[in-house]
Amino acid sequence: MHHTRAAGGRNLHSHMWIFGLGGLALGGGFLVFAPQIPVVSKSILLFAGFHLVGAVILLATLYFGAGRDWLRRLGAGKAKADRLDFGWGPGWMNGLALVSFACLAGAILIEVAAPAWWPAAFALVGLAANFLAGNSIMRGFRRVDQSVLPLVRFLPKGEGLVLDAGCGAGRTSIAVARALTSARVFAVDRFDADYIDDGGRDLLARNLTLSGVADRVSIEQADLTALPFAEGDFDGVVSTHVYDHLGGGKQKGLEEAYRVLKPGGRFLMGVWVPGWSMFTIGAVLSFFLTSKAKWREMAKAAGFELEDEQVNNHAWFLVMRKPAAA
Ligand SMILES: C[S@@+](CC[C@H](N)C(=O)[O-])C[C@H]1O[C@@H](n2cnc3c(N)ncnc32)[C@H](O)[C@@H]1O
Repeated sequence: MHHTRAAGGRNLHSHMWIFGLGGLALGGGFLVFAPQIPVVSKSILLFAGFHLVGAVILLATLYFGAGRDWLRRLGAGKAKADRLDFGWGPGWMNGLALVSFACLAGAILIEVAAPAWWPAAFALVGLAANFLAGNSIMRGFRRVDQSVLPLVRFLPKGEGLVLDAGCGAGRTSIAVARALTSARVFAVDRFDADYIDDGGRDLLARNLTLSGVADRVSIEQADLTALPFAEGDFDGVVSTHVYDHLGGGKQKGLEEAYRVLKPGGRFLMGVWVPGWSMFTIGAVLSFFLTSKAKWREMAKAAGFELEDEQVNNHAWFLVMRKPAAA
């Protein structure tokens, strides 16, 4: 996939301009042409509705195209020097609120223009409520005070070397380093995620310093499906919201985590699985997330024993153990 670096420093997909032009054309079209349709011009509600939809599309396009970077740069001067920042841009999180708003506008339009279709309007109101709930769940990920790990003793002696697989900007590395003051953490990531500002590497270094754990956390750039560590290097492995991003590399990623763990070591892995909270975010797409049963199956195939399962902040955590005799 091609990426270009925007002035604000974020990675952008190079085909963004197509969406930009499409959004401008669609929003402009609503504003200019829709009110000329007789049924629209004759109804005040429809007239207002189409203007609303056009304005929302135009504003969203401008915001995602340039406004977001502009606002970010505006705020950069007063960078929250003493605040953690995990790099989740507000844009794609607000996206669900926009979808919700669009569903609601669609419901109003149907109700006014074609009342006989009220079941469709009813369904759209349901979807609007669904996506609004999803937006609130997604926004939770931007909070720096949200707990990221369940209360699980994945490192029984509380000391040793822990791998944070797919650390991003460091939420989980910091949680582990703060909770286990005798442990050292290896924060590993490819640092190329385009949904985290600059892939997260600079933010990670900054967050570790701010949290006072930089001396116990080492940063390493690597791919989780081909880890540059020797067999049994780590006493524990932890990972949040990463293995569900590995596509076809999930099994290989689990096998790599198994390989670098010491015999008897545990792997605490948190992922999104199908369920009501994921439905609020992805609707039917959430059904395509890897199921709990499939994760258990893959973990066992990698050689792990399954010890425990927990749910924390909408993520499902599996505690796996490499057999002591391995
Ligand atoms: C949703 S973020 C989660 C970051 C962090 N664990 C957290 O909970 O805040 C997923 C992270 O996984 C990383 N990632 C995805 N695939 C990877 C791979 N094959 N190797 C290394 N890192 C990967 C991305 O770069 C990104 O930082």
